[in-house]
Amino acid sequence: MRLTFLGNGIMASTMISRLLKSGYEIEVFGRDEKKLSDFSKKFDKKLETFTYKNDIDIGDKIVVLCVKPHALEKISHFFKGEAALIISVLAGTTIATLRENIKAKNYIRAMPNIAAACGRSMTTITGDKTSQDEAVKILDAIGKTLWVESEKELDTATILAGSAPAFLALVAESLIDGAVKEGLKRSDASLLTKGLFDGFAKLLEEYAHPALIKDAVMSPGGVTAKGYSVLEEHKVRSAFMKIYQKNI
Ligand SMILES: NC(=O)c1ccc[n+]([C@@H]2O[C@H](COP(=O)([O-])OP(=O)(O)OC[C@H]3O[C@@H](n4cnc5c(N)ncnc54)[C@H](OP(=O)(O)O)[C@@H]3O)[C@@H](O)[C@H]2O)c1
Repeated sequence: MRLTFLGNGIMASTMISRLLKSGYEIEVFGRDEKKLSDFSKKFDKKLETFTYKNDIDIGDKIVVLCVKPHALEKISHFFKGEAALIISVLAGTTIATLRENIKAKNYIRAMPNIAAACGRSMTTITGDKTSQDEAVKILDAIGKTLWVESEKELDTATILAGSAPAFLALVAESLIDGAVKEGLKRSDASLLTKGLFDGFAKLLEEYAHPALIKDAVMSPGGVTAKGYSVLEEHKVRSAFMKIYQKNI
């Protein structure tokens, strides 16, 4: 099956690397010939690249929209015809806005995350139900896919799945820096943190609730209880809950 990507940035690259491995044929449109040429060299398999020009026919194609949200309006006038399906990863861009800018029979909004690069994205999707199966089939190439019933839920999932790798990177980096401050070698602290996240992912699957993991580790008057109380004192829980608010 052939997919048409609009955009050649980080998310396009992570998705394409997996989709090529799953046997998809890919063509990519971008605005900069040199960037497109460098982009195509990143992959083992050949993909076709084109710069935007007027009257690009997207009739009956499956188009994966991967540009910055503000670029949608700027590129929309290049296209003619009605795509079979638009899959958009644009954060915060509604289906109504997609519909105003690019014509398609069906629209799907998808929110992948950067773990798509290793086939481990947890991707949320919503949109035209008739295209659900087709979109899930495509997006399963980059990880797991969850269908939600509304765009509001997808916007929340954008923070939880799309942005959260950046938040977890802050947690990982802080844990390493704290250990280095106490005298642990940075290479050892990094290795321990990688192992921690790997093991923790499996624990999350096995335990019915994250609090049960905490209870299993925190003994009365112990170092974990002391550390936990410091995190609560500094309102780490409250900060994580606030990241979902629009006006922060
Ligand atoms: N990165 C993530 O973890 C992540 C997760 C979920 C969703 N997303 C979504 O993925 C989309 C792409 O993000 P990204 O992380 O891949 O960003 P990126 O690496 O900065 O790539 C952005 C892409 O948009 C193009 N672009 C920017 N301004 C443009 C304009 N005025 N006209 C035409 N093209 C323009 C860029 O073209 P040039 O290369 O020529 O500048 C590039 O192809 C965004 O909508 C974002 O919301 C990203």
